[in-house]
Amino acid sequence: MKERLEALKQEALQELEQVQSQQELNELRIKYLGKKGPLTEILRGMGALSAEERPVIGQVANDVRAAIESVVEEKQAAYLQGETEARLRAERIDVTLPGRPSPQGAVHPLNKVVQEIEDIFIGMGFTIAEGPEVETDYYNFEALNLPKGHPARDMQDSFYISEEILLRTQTSPMQPRTMLAKKGELPIKIISPGKVYRRDDDDATHSHQFTQIEGLVLDRNIRMSDLKGTLLQFVRELYGQDARIRLRPSFFPFTEPSVEVDVSCFLCGGSGCRLCKQSGWIEILGAGMVHPRVLEMAGYDPNECSGFAFGMGPERVAMLKYGVEDIRHFYTNDLRFLKQFVHL
Ligand code: PHE
Repeated sequence: MKERLEALKQEALQELEQVQSQQELNELRIKYLGKKGPLTEILRGMGALSAEERPVIGQVANDVRAAIESVVEEKQAAYLQGETEARLRAERIDVTLPGRPSPQGAVHPLNKVVQEIEDIFIGMGFTIAEGPEVETDYYNFEALNLPKGHPARDMQDSFYISEEILLRTQTSPMQPRTMLAKKGELPIKIISPGKVYRRDDDDATHSHQFTQIEGLVLDRNIRMSDLKGTLLQFVRELYGQDARIRLRPSFFPFTEPSVEVDVSCFLCGGSGCRLCKQSGWIEILGAGMVHPRVLEMAGYDPNECSGFAFGMGPERVAMLKYGVEDIRHFYTNDLRFLKQFVHL
């Protein structure tokens, strides 16, 4: 029996030596060590042995089993190792290869200026109110004291959709819209940025679509000095503490009195240069005290309250600030232009 065991061991080890695959290895393991294998059969037959022989043969059988098991385990470990290595090899990445750059977007220079202006007014307690670009004739003109046939309507050639509906020519319709929504409540302190449309022929300084930011403040005892102080604070935050403003008389049908507001030239400081055409001043917005008629039409009593309004063009602010010479650059999506503002 001892010889049979030794022969079995030799045979098993020899076969294991020739093994070609993990599957073969598994088959051999079952063949020699499995429940139906020769080793199990021999161990089962041990009952027939004498008491002296039993421990000796048992020992040999265990040794044979251990020898086969250890070779199987060794081979199994080698296969696993090989598998891992193959996988690592297949999945290897070259970390020294330069990456593919993924192009990143950035805030449009015009939106950047709008956001900056919004932040300044939010800091002064204003809230933002946005309104529709497709507007009624009523809000765009009538409620702003421009009745039908009013000569000032000629100032703004408009895109009409129907008799009563047009693309807004200004953000000023947000004045009556806000007041009507507030239903007589005080105070009102809003700015309203957005797109406006006019039938202009596009050139370096005109665009049929551009942006405005409207401002409206309404409360008891609001005076011209409040308008002046608010706008002075605004230009100081936008252009620096040395900035000054100048008010010139003007006309808008919905403000009385009306003014054009100039800011001291932020390039030369007011001494005169190419940017300000030697005047020392740059016009940045229109403003005025809200016309009593406009208050009345929106349900506010001009004897009880008063307010000021202003409107500015962020394109102009951005053009002056960044030295952009053509307004059309803001709308034509030329990446060579836009990329210059990515890090501002
Ligand atoms: N809406 C006027 C314009 O487009 C600007 C403005 C706004 C003037 C508010 C006074 C008050 O020219």
